[in-house]
Amino acid sequence: MPEIHGKKFELYISEEEINERLKSLSELIQKDYKNSTPLFISILNGAFIFTADLVRNIWGEVELSFVKVKSYHGTQSSGNAKTMIGLGIDIRDKDVILIDDIIDTGHTFKYLIELLKISQPRSIKTCCLLFKKESFKENFQIDYIGFEIDNRFVVGYGLDYDEIGRNLKDIYALAE
Ligand code: IMP
Ligand code: MG
Repeated sequence: MPEIHGKKFELYISEEEINERLKSLSELIQKDYKNSTPLFISILNGAFIFTADLVRNIWGEVELSFVKVKSYHGTQSSGNAKTMIGLGIDIRDKDVILIDDIIDTGHTFKYLIELLKISQPRSIKTCCLLFKKESFKENFQIDYIGFEIDNRFVVGYGLDYDEIGRNLKDIYALAE
């Protein structure tokens, strides 16, 4: 069992389970996009491994770009402001699939969806490997979900605990 920053983690979703799920998920996406070339927009850092594995399971043309979302505390008490960096391409009339490792509250996705819509893509769908249903506070549709998980803190397969653990091949949950 890995220990990260002094905390114990236990195996939660194995590499084999992830690989199996990715096959069916990518088949589904491939079917839905058989008449168009999807543009995956992947959210760094967490989604880098999931994205790499997912797109390699898809046969046919895909486009791919990466963005980062930076949060910063504004000078006012209005809370956490966000900004997106790195897109660098025109997404007008594209069929976008926004992709992340995990959707928790959904605030990150909500922010990005609204921002991307301004650039008038033809469509936007959403995809995540892990979905914490109980903590979801938004109301947008999530089109492709790898696994619905309990409200536990997880690491591995791209996900970090204070930047450590992204390279683990399986997904681990904080031991209870
Ligand atoms: P949201 O905006 O609340 O949906 O947050 C999503 C982001 O929070 C993800 O992209 C992750 O970076 C981070 N996150 C949420 N839950 C976890 C977790 O269990 N482990 C690691 N990162 C997490
Ligand atoms: Mg992330």
